[in-house]
Amino acid sequence: MTTSVEPSVDNTPPAKRLSKEVGRRRTFAIISHPDAGKTTLTEKLLLYGGAIHLAGSVKARRAARHATSDWMEMEKQRGISVTSSVMQFEYDDRCVNILDTPGHQDFSEDTYRTLAAADSAVMLIDAAKGVEPQTEKLFRVCKLRNLPIFTFVNKMDRQGRDPLDLMEELENHLGMPACPINWPVFDGPTFVGVFDRASEDVHVFEADKQHGATAITARTAKWGTPEIDAILSPRAQERLAHDIELLDIAGDALDLDRVLAGELSPMFFGSALNNFGVQPFLESFLEMAPAPSRYATEEGDVSATDASFSGFIFKIQANMDASHRDRIAFLRVCSGRFVKGMDARLPRLGKSIRLKNPSAFMARERSTIDEAFAGDIIGLYDPGVFRIGDTLTDGADIRFKGIPHFSPELFRHIRVGDPLKRKQLLKGLSQLAEEGAIQIFSDYGTDASDIVGAVGTLQFDVLKSRLEIEYRVDAILTPLPYVLCRWVVGESFDPRTFNRGQGSLLARDRDGHPVVLFSNEWGVRWSTEKNPKLELLPVSPLAEHAGNLSG
Ligand code: G4P
Repeated sequence: MTTSVEPSVDNTPPAKRLSKEVGRRRTFAIISHPDAGKTTLTEKLLLYGGAIHLAGSVKARRAARHATSDWMEMEKQRGISVTSSVMQFEYDDRCVNILDTPGHQDFSEDTYRTLAAADSAVMLIDAAKGVEPQTEKLFRVCKLRNLPIFTFVNKMDRQGRDPLDLMEELENHLGMPACPINWPVFDGPTFVGVFDRASEDVHVFEADKQHGATAITARTAKWGTPEIDAILSPRAQERLAHDIELLDIAGDALDLDRVLAGELSPMFFGSALNNFGVQPFLESFLEMAPAPSRYATEEGDVSATDASFSGFIFKIQANMDASHRDRIAFLRVCSGRFVKGMDARLPRLGKSIRLKNPSAFMARERSTIDEAFAGDIIGLYDPGVFRIGDTLTDGADIRFKGIPHFSPELFRHIRVGDPLKRKQLLKGLSQLAEEGAIQIFSDYGTDASDIVGAVGTLQFDVLKSRLEIEYRVDAILTPLPYVLCRWVVGESFDPRTFNRGQGSLLARDRDGHPVVLFSNEWGVRWSTEKNPKLELLPVSPLAEHAGNLSG
């Protein structure tokens, strides 16, 4: 994306330019469990990408955002936007878009939905902890789309688990075989560097005294040359020789087709905090990760290099700041070129909309963009017409297959103290569900819409406060014992005979689709066994959802 600060001057024919711009884009998300080092790694990628000059600023901004409960303030350096939703920078003529997947207390369905806008994912794991629950959840969502997944094992500077053990965990627990691109080198228990399997260079680890505030390049020596003796003890060399042999015999070979099909994960070891292994990772990742390619629509696939502009909305963010009442819809450009001020059709409503102020990633300091290409994310001013999953296009009417709902993990019963306010409550809930802030369910057979589900507790706080401020409704929320939702799919579904077991609830989602709310995993397994002709899905069925989006 170019900003209005730097208008592009390019006389290349449009089709050629489009294909060049698309081909150089890499749009990905980092998935991890809190504390694995996502902020640190993101910051280091920005540092090596020249987008920031001193690490530490992203973290400071995040802290500020939490403190003010406001949108992250946009900061621009050298024409690069750093926002809470996407960060863009250039590296070696590649245009890199990193999508932020909110974690910690911001963890929500948005985190899952963001993955719908990515072309690949980087799975970041803590060397001492391995695959943690949140990483696994996000991994499963990536798998639904067969996204290519790259693994970065972080915090190698600390005592961690055996790297072979971590590889095995990926394969056995996640069902994802890994192919190490580099391999850690140990001297006894101490981590001393990594061995790059393709170049056979050993990169020496040195703890960075300034906590990696500035970019550094590691000392290297080629394996098998006399220089190695100067950097690795005989003990470290012996172990490395053994490991190399083991990997060559036992590991999966690097097969880019399998990587791109999401069946094999290239694995890297390093320490984001110490800037160790970050640059080689970035270079290798950019080489292997896919450029924007195809997206499925109801009418068939669209190709990123199609001349018509198209994209879909994957996130709608209401402004929490009282002085900005509007909402921003985040659109992933899937094909063609977006130009500021263009008219695009919204097939769901059968109408055209002028996309005037494609600003904007962020609140107070908004900057407008002039153009964007497939792979980019743009923020559109939303006067209240957009819904999650909406398609915008300037070509033939198509509809992207939409984004499913994901199983909430927390459920509350919701009511209002004043019965006269019930209509207001339903209006507010419906609006907030459309934004994707929460999901609404009704006990099967009623249309009470009095169960709300969310992925993180913060969403309930936000819900309560927004109902109060925007709809003047004082909502009372009481916890329900469920922790999982499963969408029931199958011709033979009959609510009278459906076997769901104790402690669960048969309900409908907002689109009228049958769901079961369970209080544990065991209940899901039991019910799956007892209803062999039905499927219990952890996400809403897409076709149904897309159909409903059009309604
Ligand atoms: P998150 O966004 O995934 O939640 O993680 P974040 O980057 O905030 O990192 C979590 C903690 O892990 C931070 O420590 C960070 O400094 C540390 N960390 C990140 N990468 C590495 C690494 O390669 N090695 C080691 N040893 N630590 C790493 P903190 O004490 O919580 O914060 P801070 O005081 O360092 O900022």
